[in-house]
Amino acid sequence: MKALILAGGKGTRLRPITFSMAKQLVPVANKPVIEYGIESIVHAGIRDFGIIVGDTAKEVEGALGDGSRWGARFTYIPQPEPLGLAHAVATARGYLAEDDFIMYLGDNLIKTDVAEFVREFERHRPAAMILLTPVPNPSEFGVAEMEGDRVVRLEEKPKHPKSNLALVGVYLFDRRIHQSIETLKPSWRGEYEITDAIQGLIERGLEVRSHVVRGWWKDTGTVDAMLEANRLLLEDIEPSIQGSVDGSSRIEGRVSLGEGTVVEGSTVRGPVAIGRNCVIRDSYIGPFTAIADNTQVIGTEIENSIVLQDSKLARVPSRIEGSLLGRGVSGSSEGRVPRSLRIVMGDSSSLSLP
Ligand code: DAU
Repeated sequence: MKALILAGGKGTRLRPITFSMAKQLVPVANKPVIEYGIESIVHAGIRDFGIIVGDTAKEVEGALGDGSRWGARFTYIPQPEPLGLAHAVATARGYLAEDDFIMYLGDNLIKTDVAEFVREFERHRPAAMILLTPVPNPSEFGVAEMEGDRVVRLEEKPKHPKSNLALVGVYLFDRRIHQSIETLKPSWRGEYEITDAIQGLIERGLEVRSHVVRGWWKDTGTVDAMLEANRLLLEDIEPSIQGSVDGSSRIEGRVSLGEGTVVEGSTVRGPVAIGRNCVIRDSYIGPFTAIADNTQVIGTEIENSIVLQDSKLARVPSRIEGSLLGRGVSGSSEGRVPRSLRIVMGDSSSLSLP
């Protein structure tokens, strides 16, 4: 079985983070979101990956490399225009040849290990296997209509959804999907939809198996969504202390501390992930916080937040909570009376003070 990872689409500017970044590379719990999918697929024993790239090809290739980091082989497949998920599969037709494949949307995150789905697919050999999850806003997704355990109809972004079961961005197919794609017409939004191609399989009387999963996240580019994904992943973080912690510091719960990081006179209460080469001094780092590489936190309290790399927070006078700080952010207080805050923020940042 091969893997097809979709990391194409338009280069979007993810607000409120102040820089343009391929959405699949947004770090959650200190790791680009796409890498969780790659790891899960490698864990299922798959080594051949086709990676669909678009506008942000250079950035994606630069971040992921040739796959050797995971003991895998990556083949980058440029999609000239993001004409839809089925179009991406058609673009990869030569690479996929007649093989079975797992398709994974690079901006999706599921907590469930995909290995069990791969095994089930190989045991039952349906034409397709899809994953579903209940959502409060089904009209924003592909939606499945069920009769008992059977998928009877799939519809992409329906105005009047027949259920609350959304298609999660992980699919398994055998070569019969290619015939469905060949006859596809663009949808009302002008895209060749994989949802319509799977509906085509159902209409041909072929088996489409489904599973309902929990613990799924889809990037919506909002602070709350990113914090939620961060929480989802930090809950399972592997504790590992590679940096140094001095005698006056306390590390509680699940904490991962990267190489070269120094913790002095501080309390770190997990789940927390701190990257490499950070300095945490005279500070409190509370649950559900991810701090990326080369960041300094001095005399500051922070929890339930994400700090991207190369940032510096010094003597911030109140606890930072529910916050998302972009790369190279700096915030400090002079600590004099009248107390003042000194903050350097980029485009479309937001600051709420009590
Ligand atoms: O996230 C789950 C949803 O993903 C499903 O419920 C929908 O049925 C499915 O159509 C898809 O919907 P979206 O409209 O949200 O997909 P989006 O355009 O965000 O693309 C998903 C990923 O695939 C993203 O990482 C970009 C990449 N992509 C997208 C298109 C349209 C490509 O690589 N090429 C493309 O042509």
